[in-house]
Amino acid sequence: MQCQIIYSSKYGSTKLISQWIGEKLLHHEIQNEIISSQKATLCNESNHIVLISPVYSGKALKEFTSFITENQTLLLKKSLSIVCVAMQKERCFNNQGILNIISEFTQLHKNIIHQEVLLGEMIYSNMTKEDQTSLYSFYTKIMKFEDEKLKEKLESTSLLNKKSVWELASIIIKNIKKGN
Ligand SMILES: Cc1cc2nc3c(=O)[nH]c(=O)nc-3n(C[C@H](O)[C@H](O)[C@H](O)COP(=O)(O)O)c2cc1C
Repeated sequence: MQCQIIYSSKYGSTKLISQWIGEKLLHHEIQNEIISSQKATLCNESNHIVLISPVYSGKALKEFTSFITENQTLLLKKSLSIVCVAMQKERCFNNQGILNIISEFTQLHKNIIHQEVLLGEMIYSNMTKEDQTSLYSFYTKIMKFEDEKLKEKLESTSLLNKKSVWELASIIIKNIKKGN
């Protein structure tokens, strides 16, 4: 196993993106394992780890950050690509890149060879009532969207783009082939 792709996903879009990355790696004969962070065990043979989480309210999923915290020592021996999945790329970056979303990565800073935000999707009918309510409050109380804008934001939207995912996978492949 050359690479492990470890993901968290609440509604499936990050899982699908992980599968697309794995597919492209395999086209380039890079053996990989795609596994949920809740079940993942880091294996000795894999030098490169792709860690991928969706963004919820400006943060990675709890199960994902727990995985990083619990596996910090082993992750320090690996080279890492970090990917976030979100609906708005710009809001995910600050002067530390996307590390503000996953502050648990501070210790692993020097192991990260690539970081990227990919676009996901929001399908309202799939969401829990709690998530629907939380989004509605965010749009009305914080963003203060009204009428048309609110209606537009409450439409289900898919920004998933396999081409962008494969472009990212090509960068990962180059890094793995360079021995990173
Ligand atoms: C309750 C809720 C909060 C969200 N918060 C953010 C956010 O802060 N920033 C963002 O860009 N996207 C946000 N999103 C969009 C998700 O990141 C996006 O839907 C992602 O594709 C979900 O991945 P998953 O299907 O793997 O769970 C939020 C979605 C929900 C339902």
